[in-house]
Amino acid sequence: MKLTQTHFNTFTLTTPLYYVNDVPHIGSAYTTMAADAIARFQRLQGKSVLLITGTDEHGQKIQRTAEELGRSPQAHCDQIADGFASLWQHLNIQYDRFSRTTAPRHEAIVNEFFQRVWNQGDIYLSQQQGWYCVACEEYKEERELEQKKYCPIHTNKALEWRDEQNYFFRLSQYQKQLETLYQEHPDFIQPESRRNEVINFVKQGLQDFSISRVNIDWGFPVPCDPSHTIYVWFDALLGYITALLDPEDEPTLENALSKRWPINLHLIGKDILRFHAIYWPAMLMSAGLSLPGRIFGHGFLTKDGKKMGKSLGNTLDPVALVNQYGADAIRFYFLKEIEFGQDGDYSQTRFIHTVNANLANDLGNLLNRTLKMAFKYFNGCVPDVNGEDIPKDDALKSLGLTLADTVTQAYDALAFSEVCTAIFTLVQAGNKYIDDKAPWSLYKQGKQEAVSQVLYSVLESVRLAAYLLSPIIPNISTRIYQQLGYTLDFNDQTILATALSFDIHAVWGALPANQPLQEAQPVFRRLEDAEGASS
Ligand code: MSP
Repeated sequence: MKLTQTHFNTFTLTTPLYYVNDVPHIGSAYTTMAADAIARFQRLQGKSVLLITGTDEHGQKIQRTAEELGRSPQAHCDQIADGFASLWQHLNIQYDRFSRTTAPRHEAIVNEFFQRVWNQGDIYLSQQQGWYCVACEEYKEERELEQKKYCPIHTNKALEWRDEQNYFFRLSQYQKQLETLYQEHPDFIQPESRRNEVINFVKQGLQDFSISRVNIDWGFPVPCDPSHTIYVWFDALLGYITALLDPEDEPTLENALSKRWPINLHLIGKDILRFHAIYWPAMLMSAGLSLPGRIFGHGFLTKDGKKMGKSLGNTLDPVALVNQYGADAIRFYFLKEIEFGQDGDYSQTRFIHTVNANLANDLGNLLNRTLKMAFKYFNGCVPDVNGEDIPKDDALKSLGLTLADTVTQAYDALAFSEVCTAIFTLVQAGNKYIDDKAPWSLYKQGKQEAVSQVLYSVLESVRLAAYLLSPIIPNISTRIYQQLGYTLDFNDQTILATALSFDIHAVWGALPANQPLQEAQPVFRRLEDAEGASS
């Protein structure tokens, strides 16, 4: 089984390519924020990262939406794709590629891939009969329909009966190889619950699936039979490969696969697990390509405990959220408060409470009060202390020394919530430390050296916390760093591997003695809830 990661110093990851049937919602933003945090963490570690996102623009769903809106499909796609790009800017997402499936170069890749699978003998013409969900762009198997004729995911959408000639992909041929893959590479599908779900599904026996449609113009024509268009999912998954082309490359599979294949990580939501964990590896096996490293299926977001959806009228508009609260607060809430992999809830009360408690109180106030003392007692400079000289059993240093390892493991496992918990354990210990040590009274007693050490330990802990949180809250981390006297910006990718390198900055004790500090400014302003009270 080919599943080797050959490029050690590169990291390539994807978000799903989002449907353009509607403006982006918080679900799409969620996956993308997580992907951006991983990408940023990998860049901090000196990796050459390629973060791929984009839009999935073909198929009946999009064709119908454009028709309903009286737009040409392409004009509609252009408009919505712009909306995604703009949201990513608002959310401070540093993507490297925006793959659009209507791009002409994508057609070249799809054709070449189709041809490979065809040459392998894995495509044949047959009759397709079944219940189709246009919202999923998927035939539903009778056995998974609870109430016949309604999709289990889009419960308010009636399924449509189809009876037509389609080209089929011989998925059934790959049953054994897929089972071996899941067995030999237990980390291929994460988290564990999703892996089990896939294994159970495959165990029931895989059926071939149709990869062409008739009577739908909005798609690429099947190369050998232009009366069919290629099924939107077959086309969309290949968008990940097209995205690997450099802008100046000829669009060939060889060029696309030459630099960064296989992709390390596909981040997806749990509803599109089968496509990624079953169809996609089988398609790649058929084309003779190696397989991606890992597929992680996260959970669904709910609002105030209820499933978010247009029919309930309780969707969350990510643009409005960012405009109101800023990108860092939104990123922090969703990544810290929801265990990645599980379903999770958004409630405004909980949102305001969390960001105020952690960002404004724990982190912001700790820096603020310590900086003020540094101005009062040390002329606005870091005390003249070398981190190495502070005893190892110092309450903050002992936590700080192991923090980078814990946090690295948690980022690698996509356990963002654990990342934040570990970092805030240090921050909260910093607040307790300052209360316990009471540097103001040490100062009055003339214990200058002790004051230096206490303030150094706290400032250094805030610095380390800001550094390790920077993939999640890059703007706040930058403000903290600047107040600590650095002229560095975590959004500047060109300095991450050098001036902000992990080897130096992830180590407790990196804050230079005597570094001039900036006047204290709030790094995060407390939010008020709808009633005007902040919690
Ligand atoms: N176009 C396909 C993906 C093709 S990838 C080659 C698609 N697009 S989508 O726009 O419908 O969904 C994109 C992602 O958003 C999915 O990962 C889905 O799980 C996620 N979400 C949609 N609603 C969501 C929530 N309410 N909560 C969390 N994520 C959800 O599927």
